Amino acid sequence: MKGALGARAMAKAMVAMLCFWRLGHGCTLDDTSSYHQLDSEVLRHRSNKALTWEEAAFLAVPSNASARASLKFITSKPHVAGTAGDLDMAQYVKESFEREGVEARLDPQKVLLTYPVSSALELHDNSGQLVAKASLAEDTLESDPTSHTWWRNHTFNGYSPSGDVLASIVYANFGLPEDFEALQAAGVNVNGSIVLMRYGKCFRGLKAMNAQKAGARAAIIYSDPEQDGYAKGSVYPYGPWRPKSSVQRGSIQFISLCAGDPTRAYFPHGMDVETLCGLSAKELIPQIPVLPISYGDALVFLESLGGKVAPNDFRGALNITYRFGPTKDQYKVRVKVENRFQSSPVWNVIGKIPGTLPMDLDQPVVLGNHRDAWVYGAADPNSGTAQLLEVVRGLGKLLREGWKPLRTIYLCSWSGEEYGLLGSTAWGEVQDDLLRRALAYVNVDTGVSGQHFRAAGTPSLAQLLAEVLGHVPHPDSGKPLSEHWGGKLFSLGSGSDYTIFIDHLGIPSLDIAFSPKDAQYGVYHSVYDSFTWMATEGDPNFTYHVAMAQVWGLIALRLSGSNVEAPLPLNLSIQAEAIAGYISRVKGNRSVPLDFTALEDASLAFKSAAARAMAEVHRLSRMGPQAPPEEVTALNERLGLLERSFLLPDGLPGRKWFRHCLQAPGLYTGYAPKTLPGIDEAMDAQKWDLAQAQIHAAASRIWAAASSLAPREAPPTVFTV
Ligand SMILES: *[C@@H]1O[C@H](CO)[C@@H](O)[C@H](O)[C@H]1NC(C)=O
Ligand SMILES: *[C@@H]1O[C@H](CO)[C@@H](O)[C@H](O)[C@H]1NC(C)=O
Ligand SMILES: *[C@@H]1O[C@H](CO)[C@@H](O)[C@H](O)[C@H]1NC(C)=O
Ligand SMILES: *[C@@H]1O[C@H](CO)[C@@H](O)[C@H](O)[C@H]1NC(C)=O
Ligand SMILES: *[C@@H]1O[C@H](CO)[C@@H](O)[C@H](O)[C@H]1NC(C)=O
Ligand SMILES: *[C@@H]1O[C@H](CO)[C@@H](O)[C@H](O)[C@H]1NC(C)=O
Ligand SMILES: *[C@@H]1O[C@H](CO)[C@@H](O)[C@H](O)[C@H]1NC(C)=O
Ligand SMILES: [Zn+2]
Repeated sequence: MKGALGARAMAKAMVAMLCFWRLGHGCTLDDTSSYHQLDSEVLRHRSNKALTWEEAAFLAVPSNASARASLKFITSKPHVAGTAGDLDMAQYVKESFEREGVEARLDPQKVLLTYPVSSALELHDNSGQLVAKASLAEDTLESDPTSHTWWRNHTFNGYSPSGDVLASIVYANFGLPEDFEALQAAGVNVNGSIVLMRYGKCFRGLKAMNAQKAGARAAIIYSDPEQDGYAKGSVYPYGPWRPKSSVQRGSIQFISLCAGDPTRAYFPHGMDVETLCGLSAKELIPQIPVLPISYGDALVFLESLGGKVAPNDFRGALNITYRFGPTKDQYKVRVKVENRFQSSPVWNVIGKIPGTLPMDLDQPVVLGNHRDAWVYGAADPNSGTAQLLEVVRGLGKLLREGWKPLRTIYLCSWSGEEYGLLGSTAWGEVQDDLLRRALAYVNVDTGVSGQHFRAAGTPSLAQLLAEVLGHVPHPDSGKPLSEHWGGKLFSLGSGSDYTIFIDHLGIPSLDIAFSPKDAQYGVYHSVYDSFTWMATEGDPNFTYHVAMAQVWGLIALRLSGSNVEAPLPLNLSIQAEAIAGYISRVKGNRSVPLDFTALEDASLAFKSAAARAMAEVHRLSRMGPQAPPEEVTALNERLGLLERSFLLPDGLPGRKWFRHCLQAPGLYTGYAPKTLPGIDEAMDAQKWDLAQAQIHAAASRIWAAASSLAPREAPPTVFTV
């Protein structure tokens, strides 16, 4: 690895890698993750803004029967990115858009993918005799008619290279740096071994990378029942949790260094991954074979381990004595992985509802959900796809009644997300001109995998979210979702398709989901994330599907506006509070050789610029349709483009593709996103010169944001409605 960060930084980089699904898709966000707590006053005033006729008409459209029917179709066959199933579902989504009068096109992007060919996992005794063989297959369930598929026998990790390794194994718990340190302290040799690790605590790419760095020749990752199996409750089909033969597939790309296709094959010439990310394709994916397995298969390999008894925090919920290894009695394990790397198109579907504002004043609103799945993906991601189609049905009804948005709405169904946010990143990089003026991006990935509403996003959108949630009841309690939510807005890191929009392009973003309270859902990335699971365990009445479609669509309606241009629904005072919070958090109470004055001055300047802008919002809002259009337009120019100011021209140290100075997936600590990441990470590495330089870099971006808010002459364009 190269770049401004040292080896230690890179070693810790993967600790911070978020899952591909920041919310409810595999990473448990604890309360120490970075978030902004919305003022109770703002939450209480959620219903200040009454529904317009369009909004009320929209809210009446999403239906549980319709969401159920589209989910049933989308999950009727496997649709892994780049396969025929993926193309079929792209066409289905495109036709569903067109049926509602929304123009839509397929947007193919050529990217690097991996498909499974074969694999084997065997235990050999000291004379080379085969003692046990893993099934590497997910059992067919009679109660789940889609569980019989070729893919159930082809469990794999995306971007794992092929390989055939015979060696002893050691057990490295979650594969965190401290787990490898514990092995080293216990005198267990990892170099040359196969490392067995369990899922949980951190993104699987981190596990692969840490194992590779420790000299492992191969890695195996299994799902311990403690994380999402019987320790949580009844297993599928008797409950929602992970059964014995179920395998968590998933990409092992090093996504927090640079998202998207590691080859950037879609750029015809000129731009390459090295230029864009500062790292080569080889540095973005592992170089050792990695195989995911079930706890049913893991058992015999864990039991084959000798060596010291592992400490408490290494123990999972299997009824065995967890040991460090190596394999006892000179037994050996063979891991064979054969994956095919292939450059193929993946198909985004882009729907468009043109706005009525002239093009040079348009500020497009982008809604997105990925469509590709590891097999059927009923929860991840197609609950979100069914919700997107409900949103489109609602907008279609409004279109037929004569409604037109002021601002263009893009409705995006991404592919290639599971491999590393491929489709959205490609579209964002290729369409950067179209997105230059985008107002916001609103993401739903796994729309429903539980009953708890969670949101991550840009603080300036928090108030809009609270207001919208005030109009949608929680499906169970019937209370407004705003109360249920409680105003905790997590920071965005990486992990789903919002990454290009917020982190690379500086577009305010939201990511919303219903997920289980303190865990990932049990059938995540397995063949059992199926329609039957959703209809029996996940959302049997499809009422959470409806609620999310209502929230998502209402956000889109309020951002896009209609009839007469009104001040944008962004609250920059909340953003100013959040920035002040980031600064006090990064400063902490440690005594460090750093001067934060520039940053604090910038924050104060931003706070007063935001207050002045919000006063203007208030004044013009009160005038309603009588507000002078050119004043509203000028204000909205400043509000809508503000977030771009936070982009660092050179990006973050060691990973230049990530350009936002306020947040990023953290490089050093935990899997929480980092706020003020350039400063925080340099401080962690005790690189004080770099930290001071990052303080000045962030301060200059915050100053730029403050001055971009100062009133200017109205743009010369003639305003027409
Ligand atoms: C829709 O939800 C209601 C409960 O609100 C339920 O009775 C009904 O069965 C659901 N319909 C479908 C198709 O899931
Ligand atoms: C799939 O795996 C099962 C073991 O669970 C095996 O019996 C079956 O033959 C395999 N099918 C194929 C097509 O490989
Ligand atoms: C593993 O061992 C080999 C040779 O024995 C050595 O060259 C290499 O540096 C070691 N790797 C690590 C990570 O210790
Ligand atoms: C755990 O394993 C031991 C030894 O094999 C066995 O005696 C015991 O009944 C098992 N306990 C459970 C809860 O399965
Ligand atoms: C589904 O809806 C029915 C009728 O409203 C209700 O009795 C049942 O509890 C609901 N089921 C779930 C899982 O919410
Ligand atoms: C913006 O949020 C602040 C809370 O931080 C609140 O006091 C203020 O009223 C909000 N402004 C508008 C225009 O809603
Ligand atoms: C300062 O930090 C330490 C540990 O980081 C913490 O225990 C202590 O409560 C903090 N003190 C204040 C005043 O915030
Ligand atoms: Zn997903």
